[in-house]
Amino acid sequence: ARQSRGRLLDLHREASALFHAHLLTDPACEHARNYLKQRGFGKEMAERWEIGWMPENPEVFLRWARERRFTGKELVGSGLAALKDEEKPAAGLYVRFRDRLMFPIRNEIGDVIAFSGRQLREDRRSGKYINSPETDIFKKSNVLFALDKAKKAILKEKTVILCEGQIDAISCHEAGVENAIAPLGTAFTAQHARILKRYAQTAVLCFDADSAGVKACERAFRELAPEGLSVKVVELPPGEDPDTYIKAKGVDSFRALVESARDFFDFKIAFAKKAGSLDSAEGKASLSRDCTDLLALMGDHASRDQQINVVASMLGLGSATLREGIGGAVKRAK
Ligand code: CTP
Ligand code: MN
Ligand code: MN
Ligand code: MN
Ligand code: MN
Repeated sequence: ARQSRGRLLDLHREASALFHAHLLTDPACEHARNYLKQRGFGKEMAERWEIGWMPENPEVFLRWARERRFTGKELVGSGLAALKDEEKPAAGLYVRFRDRLMFPIRNEIGDVIAFSGRQLREDRRSGKYINSPETDIFKKSNVLFALDKAKKAILKEKTVILCEGQIDAISCHEAGVENAIAPLGTAFTAQHARILKRYAQTAVLCFDADSAGVKACERAFRELAPEGLSVKVVELPPGEDPDTYIKAKGVDSFRALVESARDFFDFKIAFAKKAGSLDSAEGKASLSRDCTDLLALMGDHASRDQQINVVASMLGLGSATLREGIGGAVKRAK
């Protein structure tokens, strides 16, 4: 059932304040406070991001909701709860998050519209992060974590730093790098790219240095390039993410990495070289086909021309040959 938007926003705002109050004062979540401390986050961070804690016992939240006159329908509509049995509403409500660190997810103007909950101990029976499901006020494909806090800095620097995880975006901001954001554990979408286009000319991808991160770079390029954004890639040391890197090496070192981010094609071709993909004629042909298709996606034709020359010289091809291939690829795409 459709919910009134105002009620859903009220519920999210009040629930976020409740979870935050638990985190700061509830004797039952010493372990959650210790968890944050042990990851190097203090009380100021928790306050700035309104980090919270959802109790283990679902009755605590359900009782609060009843006292606040939020109905079962509204709780279900918010995704914070679900019916235990769709057929039998009387069977009661199941609370989605249990004993989790709660991160409020905000829209562009700062309203809480969803939550992401991180487990506090390793437990393979459920995900490390659980997010709210899509609701009337939360569509994953057009929400970017921390955009409400980052938009001013992104506009000023004309550059957005794209991280993989919300903790990475938080660590960037806490260290003073305020143009960082993260999608919500989902693929980066065309809608995300259109939103960023309003603020930035350049996207610096700062994904985890693992195989998932490398694949994510190409997927993000495919969405960002058609919008005319130029895409750069930061290479972190193996196994690191922005959060661990900033904590280990300091923010100045992180800023230097961001400053020296490589153009997407430079990164892609260097990566293929390292993997040995250029050692055979077939490998080289296949890489040049990939690059042709990706160059054809670029909406900014002036920088496409420039990238064509870069790619041609890195692959040892004539740029005229490459240009012809791109003409064909553009036609095929239309
Ligand atoms: N993710 C998820 N579910 C998981 C693992 C990851 O939704 N089981 C999403 C989260 O949005 C997470 C992102 O993928 O932030 C990146 O995953 P990962 O690198 O594993 O998590 P971190 O962001 O590094 O989180 P942490 O540092 O708390 O482990
Ligand atoms: Mn990862
Ligand atoms: Mn991490
Ligand atoms: Mn990570
Ligand atoms: Mn065009």
